Amino acid sequence: MPTSASQPSQAPKSKSNLIRIIAIVLLALIVLLGLVVLITWLVVKPKRLVYTIENGSIQNFNLTNDHLSANFYFVVRSYNPNKRVSIYYDSIGATVNYNDQTLAFSGVDPFYQRHRNVTRFDLNFTARSAALSSSVSKDLMLEKRSEKIQFDVWLKARIRFKVGAWKSRHRTLRVSCSPVLEVSRPKSFRRTYCYAEL
Ligand SMILES: *[C@@H]1O[C@H](CO)[C@@H](O)[C@H](O)[C@H]1NC(C)=O
Ligand SMILES: *[C@@H]1O[C@H](CO)[C@@H](O)[C@H](O)[C@H]1NC(C)=O
Ligand SMILES: *[C@@H]1O[C@H](CO)[C@@H](O)[C@H](O)[C@H]1NC(C)=O
Ligand SMILES: *[C@@H]1O[C@H](CO)[C@@H](O)[C@H](O)[C@H]1NC(C)=O
Repeated sequence: MPTSASQPSQAPKSKSNLIRIIAIVLLALIVLLGLVVLITWLVVKPKRLVYTIENGSIQNFNLTNDHLSANFYFVVRSYNPNKRVSIYYDSIGATVNYNDQTLAFSGVDPFYQRHRNVTRFDLNFTARSAALSSSVSKDLMLEKRSEKIQFDVWLKARIRFKVGAWKSRHRTLRVSCSPVLEVSRPKSFRRTYCYAEL
């Protein structure tokens, strides 16, 4: 019975060994899980969505007493460059702005965009007697005389990513475009690139 003497000191030791093993296994699991998430992210990492405005025109321009009425028409091209990521556009709102002043609102019906898909949609805005500050109104009048007006089109969308069967939570996509509309030559619109950020 020489070993019975060392028994009491061995019991706490094996217990602490057990705790150590559990800790190591837990740590390894956490590291493994992190690696899986990282690799999945690197494989499917969403690329920046590509937005351009392909066409645009302005009609019935009427700026009277610092109030603007007009119809705007834009054709937006939305490209999803991702190989594995599809996108749910659950809601899309748009504004047309001049010098940071919003002139009119518009929206687009929700749609689902598969990977590598191009979707085009119209944005039609109607400004009805939108009030402008007198300095903004003056700038707009000057640009109108030069026949080239710089409007900004902003889109804000609630989107979800879909990879295989997995769907992400909602994210907000913001897109800003600065199309220059030539008032006298509506057919000369040049494609403009937008900046899209999540
Ligand atoms: C742009 O829209 C105008 C009408 O608003 C049309 O006449 C013109 O052909 C369009 N241009 C292109 C490239 O689609
Ligand atoms: C422009 O708008 C003003 C007031 O909003 C209106 O009195 C005028 O008739 C309009 N002009 C045209 C050409 O529609
Ligand atoms: C993109 O998706 C829409 C809707 O699913 C479809 O109508 C359109 O043809 C697709 N475009 C391309 C270039 O695949
Ligand atoms: C937007 O306006 C253009 C020209 O003014 C028209 O051809 C087009 O059908 C309109 N689109 C929508 C969705 O109302």
